[in-house]
Amino acid sequence: MPLTIAIPKETHKLEKRVAATPDSVRKLLELGYRVVVESRAGSQANYSNDAYKEAGAEMVSAAKLYPQADILLKVNGPEKRTDLDGKNELDLLPKDATFISFLQPALNEPLLKQFAKKKINALAIDAVPRISRAQKMDALSSMANIAGYRAVVEASNLFGRFFTGQITAAGKVPPAKVLVIGAGVAGLSAIGAAKSMGAIVRAFDTRPEVKDQVKSMGAEFLELDYEEDGSGTGGYAKEMSKAFIDAEMALFREQAAEVDIIITTALIPGKPAPKLILEDMVKSMKQGSVIVDLAAANGGNCELAQADKVVTRHGVSIIGYTNLPSRLAAQSSQLYATNLVHLVAELTPGKDGELIINMDDEVQRGATVVHQGKVTWPPPQPASPPPSPAAEKKAVPEPEPEAPAVKAKPKNLFSGKAMIGYWAVAGTLLLLLGSVAPADFVHHFFIFILSIFVGWQLIWNVKHSLHTPLMSVTNAISSIVILGALLLVATPDSTLITVMAMVAVFVTSINIFGGFYVTHRMLHMFRK
Ligand code: NAI
Repeated sequence: MPLTIAIPKETHKLEKRVAATPDSVRKLLELGYRVVVESRAGSQANYSNDAYKEAGAEMVSAAKLYPQADILLKVNGPEKRTDLDGKNELDLLPKDATFISFLQPALNEPLLKQFAKKKINALAIDAVPRISRAQKMDALSSMANIAGYRAVVEASNLFGRFFTGQITAAGKVPPAKVLVIGAGVAGLSAIGAAKSMGAIVRAFDTRPEVKDQVKSMGAEFLELDYEEDGSGTGGYAKEMSKAFIDAEMALFREQAAEVDIIITTALIPGKPAPKLILEDMVKSMKQGSVIVDLAAANGGNCELAQADKVVTRHGVSIIGYTNLPSRLAAQSSQLYATNLVHLVAELTPGKDGELIINMDDEVQRGATVVHQGKVTWPPPQPASPPPSPAAEKKAVPEPEPEAPAVKAKPKNLFSGKAMIGYWAVAGTLLLLLGSVAPADFVHHFFIFILSIFVGWQLIWNVKHSLHTPLMSVTNAISSIVILGALLLVATPDSTLITVMAMVAVFVTSINIFGGFYVTHRMLHMFRK
């Protein structure tokens, strides 16, 4: 019997999204599942009952949906259903069901314990690791992309002028000036939307590597006369020193008097949003200006912003909506549902309607926050390269050891004592080898070991300036291969080596240019 995937209606205040669309229902059926959808679940995102039925879903009432759900797909975490005697969704689900939604595990420990108590497995889509292989499941990015776009739409709605400059018979209209603070996913998307509407766009970010991305989208990157790298681990930012924050605020103070719209997206995961726009800056803005604070849910980047409200202070409208993706419900449901289908496909290796959580898989392990009655958040950290000086502060909390029921805690294979042991064994082996091997071999072997060491240091210390750290690292590896191959290409006495070197140059060139091409295409996604 295939398992049943259930899609309830979202009941969270202001929520219009839904976790499945008719298209995604078709794909879930192809994976072998049975799909039941609550009647009118998609009505606020413009997906009708008929469309779901046509796709092959069975439409049921809320009361009938929960008891038959083996897997519940949702946008928001568990909620109370006022229409079902005020019962919590967790109390309505059968034991051993699997719940998949946004869960913010780092901020919701009591909720995770509730899942564990009820023996319901929980997968947090927002905890899917941000690695290349998992990009198709990266719901945080797909929602932030929509939020950035929608921020510009909301700003233009309240801004009383054109974005684009015009020369008309009635006079000259200057273009609007937009400042975007934080050029992550939401920021880049806001830059793209504002640029395509004809505004002059400026942006600032603490991570210097985004400068080229900002520029390639036609915006100006504001520079600070203060040296501090904001790049942290895993492609995220790190918290900046007070002196740096003061310096950037001086820059924003200057800009506030000049620009018409400020869109703030600055955030470091797991930290309250830095306060970057103070009341005096708001006061210095022109009447009719607009601020959109995307970080309002985390305290806000603007000290006057209020979550889910538009407030007007000193003639400036400050938008603090925390549900921007939901304000574009059809689009965000479509992208979110696709992210979920990809995650469910990973969990269904046989495409037979059987869900298997593989705790040895990095992506599945990262997303699984409660498994078989045990809280499994946070996941163990992946083996990391030697820390770069810029990454001494961690953006994410240290993980606790993994729950013993999932996997026994491994012995520390790299403790001081163990390392001394390894070196002693390696040294003895080398001595033995040196005593029997020809002198030439020992010479080459030492060069080989030395190059591994130098290569490792060189590659892991490359600054990430392509779209993802992975691409930067693979390009660094390819560059070293090319250097070596170029040195060997002109070997006079061996055609074989010359040919092999040429092949190496050719193959690694494909990788390097491919890296740039993929980055270019990713940036292109944010352009008009
Ligand atoms: P992200 O992590 O990709 O980008 C945040 C950017 O802010 C990073 O580039 C970081 O370097 C930068 N930053 C951090 N501290 C800074 C500082 N002091 N000055 C300048 N830049 C700084 O995050 P993403 O996905 O782009 O999300 C951005 C914000 O949008 C977050 O606050 C997120 O919670 C929020 N969001 C809001 C939604 C809404 O409906 N209001 C919906 C989706 C996301």
